[in-house]
Amino acid sequence: MKFTILTLFPDFFPGPFAESIAKKAMDKGLFSIEALNIRDFAEDKHKTVDDTPYGGGAGMVFRPDVVAKSVEAVLAKNPAAKLIYPSPRGKTLNQKKVEELSEAENIVILCGRYEGVDQRVLDHYGFEEISIGDYILSGGEIAAYTIIDACIRIKTGVLGNPQTHKEESFSIAGSEFLLEYPHYTKPAIWQNSEVPEVLLSGNHAKINEWRLGKSEQITKKNRPDLWEKFLNNKTK
Ligand code: ADE
Repeated sequence: MKFTILTLFPDFFPGPFAESIAKKAMDKGLFSIEALNIRDFAEDKHKTVDDTPYGGGAGMVFRPDVVAKSVEAVLAKNPAAKLIYPSPRGKTLNQKKVEELSEAENIVILCGRYEGVDQRVLDHYGFEEISIGDYILSGGEIAAYTIIDACIRIKTGVLGNPQTHKEESFSIAGSEFLLEYPHYTKPAIWQNSEVPEVLLSGNHAKINEWRLGKSEQITKKNRPDLWEKFLNNKTK
């Protein structure tokens, strides 16, 4: 799997992926990241990438001609690449979407800055807009980190134990609507606080029941929207 990042800040990459499990997966050739500087595709002597918005207003907008050249350069090598434009205006990323994206061989992530990118270039190439949440970041790069990280941990080999990702928030007990139960490890008593007794019992049926109960409790409290979906799904 290859990620190509179109950005004004190529030094952001590989960034956090040069460490830890991601580095091992990269060394094994499971995925790669290449960052291209959009500015390198500007043709005037000032290397201009943006201009003022038609219709007025604050900020600057990436020029479609410059962005198009960077996109064409990537598509020339990977014509079937999936094109993503991180934007607070997109559909919110969820685990289902991550699973879909992680199937792609080539993903291009165009990182906007300022007011964003001329709409025509997004429409022309069919960029999918993806938001990572209801808040505004200063550019697409941090959102790109999130998308890349979520995809690569799904790829075989990033997680040592495939069971790990079957049993975490968004796939508890076969439900995509429950959040994960709490975890405990040694010491059994810490700061006068004991590990829940059932976890020491060795009774796996009881442990699973306790974990499911906790998952339900946490989901109900923290994410009433998911809890509602869980209940609706159960009655189907
Ligand atoms: N760019 C700026 N804010 C963003 C967000 N919330 N999600 C994705 N890309 C963004």
